[in-house]
This record gives sequence, structure tokens and C-alpha cells, in this order.
Amino acid sequence: MVVLANRLPFDLEPQPDGTTKARQAPGGLVTALQPILSRREGAWVGWPGTPDTELEATTTDGLTLEPISLTSDEVDQYYEGFSNATLWPLYHDAVAPSEFHRPWWEAYRRVNDRFARRAAEVAAPGATVWIHDYQLQLVPQMLRALRPDVRIGFFLHIPFPPAELFNRLPWRRQIVAGLLGADLIGFQLPGGTRNFVRLAKSLLDVPTSGGRLNYDGRTIKVGAFPISIDSAAQSALAATPEVHDAARKLRADLGNPSKIILGVDRLDYTKGIDVRLRAFRELLAEKDPSVDDAVMVQIATPSRERLESYIRMREGIERQVGSLNGDFGKIGRPAVHYLHQSLPREELAAFYVAADVMTVTPLRDGMNLVAKEYVACRVDGGGTLLLSEFTGAARELRAALQVNPYDTDGVKDGLRAALNMTTVAARRQMRSLRRQVLTHDVDRWAESFLSALEGTRDHVTEAR
Ligand code: UDP
Ligand code: G6P
Repeated sequence: MVVLANRLPFDLEPQPDGTTKARQAPGGLVTALQPILSRREGAWVGWPGTPDTELEATTTDGLTLEPISLTSDEVDQYYEGFSNATLWPLYHDAVAPSEFHRPWWEAYRRVNDRFARRAAEVAAPGATVWIHDYQLQLVPQMLRALRPDVRIGFFLHIPFPPAELFNRLPWRRQIVAGLLGADLIGFQLPGGTRNFVRLAKSLLDVPTSGGRLNYDGRTIKVGAFPISIDSAAQSALAATPEVHDAARKLRADLGNPSKIILGVDRLDYTKGIDVRLRAFRELLAEKDPSVDDAVMVQIATPSRERLESYIRMREGIERQVGSLNGDFGKIGRPAVHYLHQSLPREELAAFYVAADVMTVTPLRDGMNLVAKEYVACRVDGGGTLLLSEFTGAARELRAALQVNPYDTDGVKDGLRAALNMTTVAARRQMRSLRRQVLTHDVDRWAESFLSALEGTRDHVTEAR
């Protein structure tokens, strides 16, 4: 199998002494795909995270990393530009305005073509090529032209927007045609699938019936495949004595408050970090709870730091944190502990185990794996999850306390309810959430996607 994603699982940075420093790449895509690939032989084609870096392919434990080099201009125009300043906001309900520039589109096409060519080189005859996410939507069509023998799957990790938003894209037809190069196109939710099918019909006159589209003389399957985590591994990690001790120490370091409220996100405007800070501020203003009773910890992983919208958002969040602490903190007792850092999984697990209330309040999110990780980590059966209804996870984690992040009063009520939930009710909630997360893990996701893709084999054989 060959996986294509914008990023490799590791950011690889060449050092002056000729060695290469490797660091876990950010985001949920890597979290989900890494365990899948570690259990199969294959290749992962992606960008190593640093511009202007030419690296050789390397193989460890049966997985070959195939680095794709991007110039600084391509990072500006393909990655930060078209991927993250045009598509990312547009696909997330335009919670920030999208920008449309032709040179960005040209760079997107050029880089997609580079990925397609590399996949064509490394894929064995009849191989499965699995392409991931919004940065590579043209690759399916490009790869099919180069290698009609391979089976092509595409999975979109973020929401696929309705026509009202998608049609703003001047290159909307090319993107739909690009995706239709795949044999199977997977989305997180049925809503994304429906949006895509409608657009394929209206933009390219594609005939459809029962999850199948006909385009260019081929049949393409579409469907929803909600992604997940390695639930057993996450639970096992949380159950280790090291994580248990680290969680206890964390609580002590925070001054043994009766409630720890946690947020863990990439510092991204879609995540609604400001929403939960606002809700917490209002509760503190009413002294219910007081800063002696509850403390918030917000881990905000650095992300896309050169983009104006991210710089502005970071300033806003940090101002909010500062003013919360200024207005409500005491010496040795800040209201919010804010870490602008990326923590390793083991450390993060201790935060999940220690937190009484996990706040996940995105304005829009394809899935949100953090919510599932929190649940998997609660081997003790405790903890309460406050979850935005606009995450993909909300569809599966029905038992969570769900809130509308656009309704600050509602989030405030939800946060208060989470803080005051009885132990019996919280345990009941967590039992139901755990049942869902432990039985719907990332292996099940990969198997269901790949077996649906396998089912397209007849067609591939005919085409060869
Ligand atoms: N994460 C991490 N260290 C951190 C913060 C987050 O490893 O300091 C991981 C987290 O465990 C999760 C992923 O980053 O696996 C975030 O995935 P999610 O789907 O929640 O959001 P995304 O960042 O993909 O939008
Ligand atoms: C989300 C996207 C991924 C992306 C990740 C991190 O999970 O769906 O495609 O890799 O965020 O973002 P970055 O821009 O740092 O790769």
C-alpha cells in the first residue's frame, strides 16, 4: 500500500552535522494513520515539514518514507495559501474568510502533480494507493492518468462543505473532477458524502445511484467512514503506573483543585478555544465555581504560525488568558494554565487522566480525535466530556454533554452542568462513551475503508 498525505508522520529536519532530527508531525491525520501503517508494509509519501529540503527515501520496520520536497514559494502558495487560507476556512463553514488567488491554485496543481508522479513511481503493479485530505484533492485524477492499474482510495479528514460554500471556489469543477479519479471517496460523515454527490451532479452532470457515481466510463463509490483512534493502545497507555503517577503529580502541581477543566487543540480558529474561555470567565464572574474550586488547563499546539489569521487568533486567545488571570487569579492560583506547546502522547495522557471536565468546543471539526482520546484514557470510568455538536465526533459520542459553540450562554450552562454532574451520572455517561470508542477504533475504520475499496476491484481489473 502507498499512502499519500501532505505530511509525513514525522517532521524531518536536517542538522548541520548531517544527521536528521525527527519529530512527531502535528494533527489527527498522523495520529490515526500511524498505527495503521505500522501494522502493514508500505510507503508513505509526504512533505517532511521543512521547505527547500531534499531528503532520500528511508525504510524502517517495513515502512518507507518518501519525502516530497517543497520550495519556500510552494510552502507559501500551496500549503499556507491554497490549502490553509483558501480550502481550510471554506471547508470549515467559512468561520474565517477564504482567499482566492490564481498563483496559489497553480502551485496547488503543481504540487499535486508532484505527489501523483511520486506515487506512480513507487506503487507496485495493481497496488492500493490511499490519498489523504484536502491538500491533495487533484491527485486521484492525476494518478489515474499515469497509472490506470492501481486502485485509488481518497479520504477527506475535514468536512466537505455544502454547495453554497463550495461553489465560491473558482476551481470547483477541477476539484470535483480531481476527486472523481479515485475508485472510492470517503468522508467523515454522511452529510459530507451528500454534499459531494450533489455537487458532482450539478457541476459535472455525473449520474448517481445508491452511493455510486458514473464518471469518465468508470464507477466511483462514495461513503462515510468516521475515523477513530487506536483505542486499546490509548487505554493501555493511560493505565500505566507512569501515567497514573504523572496525573496525580499534575493535580498536586495545580494546587489540588476540586475540578480540573482541560482543553487540548491545535491553536486553530476552528477549535473554539475562545468560546470555552468566555464561558469559563462568565462562570468565574458569578463565582460558580470560584478560582479556588476550578482551574482550566489549555494546551494549544503551535500550528500554521506564519498565517495572518492564526497570528491574530493567537493574540486574541493570549489576551483572553491574560485578562482571565488578571481579573480572577490569585498568587499561586491562576485561573487558566496556558501551554503553547506540543506535548508527547504520554504527557498528554496524564492530562486526560487528571481532567474532570474535557472541553471540546470547535465551531466546526471533521472529527476531533482529542474527544475520543479523552474517553479512551478514562479507564477509571470517571470524567465528563463537553462536546460541540459541530464536530464529527458528536455524531458518535451521543452520550457526551453536547453544546452549540455559537451560544456562549449554552456553553456556559454546559460547563456548569459538567462541573456539577454527580459521580453516578458522570460514570454512566463515560460508560456509554467508552463502549462506543473502544468498539469503533482506527483499525475498524481502516478495514471498512479498505474493504470497500477492495470491492471496487472488478472495475480496476476491467480497466487494466
Ligand atoms: N496532540 C499531541 N500533542 C499535543 C496536542 C495534541 O500529540 O500537545 C495530538 C492529539 O493527541 C490528537 C491530535 O494531536 O491526536 C489532534 O487531532 P484532532 O483530530 O483532535 O485535531 P486536528 O489537529 O487534527 O485538527
Ligand atoms: C488537520 C488536517 C491534517 C493536517 C493537520 C495538521 O488534522 O486534517 O491534514 O496535517 O490538521 O495541520 P498541518 O497544517 O500542520 O499539517
